[in-house]
Amino acid sequence: MPKYRSPAPVDLKDRQWPSRVVERSPEWVSVDLRDGNQALPNPMTPDQKLEYFRLLTHIGFKQIEVAFPSASQDDFEFTRRLIEEDQIPSDVFIMGLTQCRPHLIDRTFEAFRGLRRGIVHAYIATSDLHIRHVFGQSRQETLETAVRATRQIRERCDAAPESDLRYEFSPEEFTDTDPDFALEICTAVFEAWGKATLEKPMILNLPATVERRPPTHYADLIEWFIRRFPYRDRVRISVHGHNDQGMVVAATEMALMAGADRVEGTLFGHGERTGNLDIVTMALNLHARGIPTGLDFSDLPHIAETVERLTGMPIYYRQPYSGELVFTAFSGSHQDAIHKVLRKRREVAGEFGVGWKVPYLHVDPTDIGRRFERIIRINSQSGKGGVAWVLERDHSITIPKAMQAEVGTIVKAYSDRVHREVNSEELRRLFEEHFVHPRGPFCLVGYWPRPDEKDPAHIHGEVRILVDGVERRLTGEGNGPVSAFVHCLQGLLDAKFTVEDYHEQAIGKGAEAQAAAYVPLRFEDGTVVFGVGIDANIDQAAVRAIMAGLNRAAMLRRKGVSEREKRSKTAAAH
Ligand code: KIV
Ligand code: ZN
Repeated sequence: MPKYRSPAPVDLKDRQWPSRVVERSPEWVSVDLRDGNQALPNPMTPDQKLEYFRLLTHIGFKQIEVAFPSASQDDFEFTRRLIEEDQIPSDVFIMGLTQCRPHLIDRTFEAFRGLRRGIVHAYIATSDLHIRHVFGQSRQETLETAVRATRQIRERCDAAPESDLRYEFSPEEFTDTDPDFALEICTAVFEAWGKATLEKPMILNLPATVERRPPTHYADLIEWFIRRFPYRDRVRISVHGHNDQGMVVAATEMALMAGADRVEGTLFGHGERTGNLDIVTMALNLHARGIPTGLDFSDLPHIAETVERLTGMPIYYRQPYSGELVFTAFSGSHQDAIHKVLRKRREVAGEFGVGWKVPYLHVDPTDIGRRFERIIRINSQSGKGGVAWVLERDHSITIPKAMQAEVGTIVKAYSDRVHREVNSEELRRLFEEHFVHPRGPFCLVGYWPRPDEKDPAHIHGEVRILVDGVERRLTGEGNGPVSAFVHCLQGLLDAKFTVEDYHEQAIGKGAEAQAAAYVPLRFEDGTVVFGVGIDANIDQAAVRAIMAGLNRAAMLRRKGVSEREKRSKTAAAH
């Protein structure tokens, strides 16, 4: 006998749901304070639950399961508190869960005394596994229990005409229940309720209590059920999925395609075991397709922080929409693509006829209170474009394109060495260490440019410089102070060099502004080495940049020589 078997799909050959498209939002129901709370290692205190409840109403939930009032004194008192302190907005239905047992139903109504609008939610397990082996009953006995409970609930509702009370019934383990029996018990319960109208429909909640089937099966079951249920116009078909196989969002989306009207879930998927459906993900998926949801997640970071604090449970880094890393691109090609398109966002949007079309970001992070600034972070996978972007964004250092590869290689090597992400401050430090103040044999003591007496455009230069600690005097000339300086320094290394056209940039504004010069030195052997100088005076910035470039070139040459020596020694030893 095999240990596992694929659950038999429902027989639905002419299924319609695969070609349907979800075009409007379902009714949203939060079960955070019941299913979510009961699964927390440390359930919330009444004050914490109240804060959570306010958060849910602020987001826009109109149906909120607040408790299992008969299950604990805390849940009972919390329900009473909401009612007695008039904490429930007038358009919000609170929901209380109960088993189909007479004293628990009575206790639920006690908790609901004086409630303006509410939903009594009764459930009973309908799978044969539960019926026979947990409760030791038959299907018929289970059906009768559910019908009796429904009649009792109806009587109690009739006795409280001042409250607008609705009824929800859940055949627990619906997806592990014989569909014919699920249909039979739901029909019997609907008829026993007998109060459903078009305006005040009954709610039939068909849960995947444990995710045992692929999402396609769930959708088939929902479509199968809806097609056969005889009172479709007077029920809201509700779905309630758990995430045991990690597919609950897909299952819920397909259940909506199959005709479900209402969705139960929790913020960030809190709930038993792997959790309930994450309503944030589900609702924002619809938002990303242009469907208004009625839920306000425009400050998702605040919602996430509040829920993390109240539940004591962190949100996973990669949780869709809310995880810390979900609007972050590490990979260089992604960074580059995002950066390019963000820069010409309007033009791209016009071309595609939508407000947002950006590679690797399917929604605009600012819709949900996230920031662009966190999109690009740097590690060994990052490209030169990302490094340049962070230097510009955080430090106003705009390195020329030709220099990006050199900077990128250094950052990548560093990240490989430390085996982690490189933060923005480290990036600046690396940039300064390698390009602005690199170690090397040369230390400039002074440079004195002097215009020629006859031709002031012609400059004579004198340089005093320490080379490995020994002072040398050098002279040279050129058609400007920078070219005269370059001329003075020829011969310091074993190859002559020229200065390619260099870039200047102002860093900061007003009296505090400094000039940055990015200077490429091209050597006779074709190598190009960049140096960067920063100074209040632009000529001084260029001079510093040339010195930095020469020191870098000297160090690179020494490194090259020592590596060649190492290689030849190893070869000789073999
Ligand atoms: O998961 C489930 O089946 C439930 C029911 C009580 C609806 O939470
Ligand atoms: Zn549940």
